Amino acid sequence: MLKGKKIVLGLTGSIAVYKSCELIRLLIKSGCEVDAIMTKSASELIRPYIIEELSRSRCITDTFERTAVFDVKHISLAKKADLFVIAPATANIIGKIANGIADDMLSTTVMATKAVKMIAPAMNPDMYSNPIVQNNIKKLSSYDDYIILPSGVGDMACGDVGKGRMAEPEDIFNYIKRELSYPKLLKGKRVLVTCGATMEPIDPVRFITNHSSGKMGFAIAEVSEAMGADVTVIKANTTAKIPAGLNILNVGCARDMFETVKREYKNFDYIFMAAAVADYTPLTTAKDKIKKSDGDMTVVLKRTDDILEFLGKNKTSGQKICGFSMETRDLIENSRKKLEKKNVHMIAANSIVSEGSGFGTDTNIITILTKDKKRELPLMTKEECAFEIISELIKI
Ligand SMILES: Cc1cc2nc3c(=O)[nH]c(=O)nc-3n(C[C@H](O)[C@H](O)[C@H](O)COP(=O)(O)O)c2cc1C
Repeated sequence: MLKGKKIVLGLTGSIAVYKSCELIRLLIKSGCEVDAIMTKSASELIRPYIIEELSRSRCITDTFERTAVFDVKHISLAKKADLFVIAPATANIIGKIANGIADDMLSTTVMATKAVKMIAPAMNPDMYSNPIVQNNIKKLSSYDDYIILPSGVGDMACGDVGKGRMAEPEDIFNYIKRELSYPKLLKGKRVLVTCGATMEPIDPVRFITNHSSGKMGFAIAEVSEAMGADVTVIKANTTAKIPAGLNILNVGCARDMFETVKREYKNFDYIFMAAAVADYTPLTTAKDKIKKSDGDMTVVLKRTDDILEFLGKNKTSGQKICGFSMETRDLIENSRKKLEKKNVHMIAANSIVSEGSGFGTDTNIITILTKDKKRELPLMTKEECAFEIISELIKI
């Protein structure tokens, strides 16, 4: 997907600059052309020679450098970029860009490019939380062609702990990949995704749940975002890595999920119900831990609310809804029945029995069912499945 893509990578004076070596390696390995521009401060922290070796091209450090090739470097790089990435981005470069300052090679090239600019802030938590920095970040986010990557929370090189760490190189790579891979078909649209497994409490320490990891829902959320949507995730319990920067509403049991969906659903254009919501929940939840006794015990279960059916009945005009199904047998027949009974636009049917598909895996085998169509997808990554599912729902 990335073969031949031209990435201009800006490196600024943060200790996190060493992590960008790994980002360059990932980009080169996937077939991108990388041109790096270092600020003077960045070149004090890491030798340009390392960047040149990894990127296999000349690293630019100075606006007025005399080059053998006769071109105006900041303009030629600005025009060449399919994507401009600044990682790490200091408070200084963010402030300069937000205020239109172009006083070195990097800031001048940023001002000259029409490419999308992806910024990965990296700084000490006190710098990051400084209202001036936050205002600059907010200002850049308000432009269509700037994407500000979420900063991580954790230990800093300076010894502080808090928010401001640069996103991990692999995560930045994935953002780049998604940004360059998907058409912006969801621009201006709002997408709601439910994901994970609900937890139905028996007593304060025990619960009933299922194996849903949340990976499929997160993939839909991330791809929707890369396609330009404003995304909200209603998340039950998940074991998958939670993508940074998503707008997440946490819920516990099926009842919570239902209440949250009921409260939120009217605000969205597309809804993907990827969560595995319990069909049954304990009739009562014991206040205290149930004590062990010698005999057997019975937990009486009652039906939960059918959230998909609620959405099918109450959907607003223009709103499109995709449910998910997972079966151990008669997958297509049961899923088609679900599509009709729930009165939704689409069901993504997962087989739990096929190799490489189902809970917790990175791949899936999905059949997409709509009123008059059945499309069987081959084994794909969950991200690839997500793109196909979203694209089909958009077409309806
Ligand atoms: C060792 C060291 C580490 C630094 N780390 C950061 C950092 O993580 N984030 C930041 O915004 N500034 C950091 N700074 C300060 C910047 O390097 C300084 O603001 C500089 O002017 C940035 O220039 P530039 O944006 O042109 O690269 C650091 C400075 C030093 C000496």
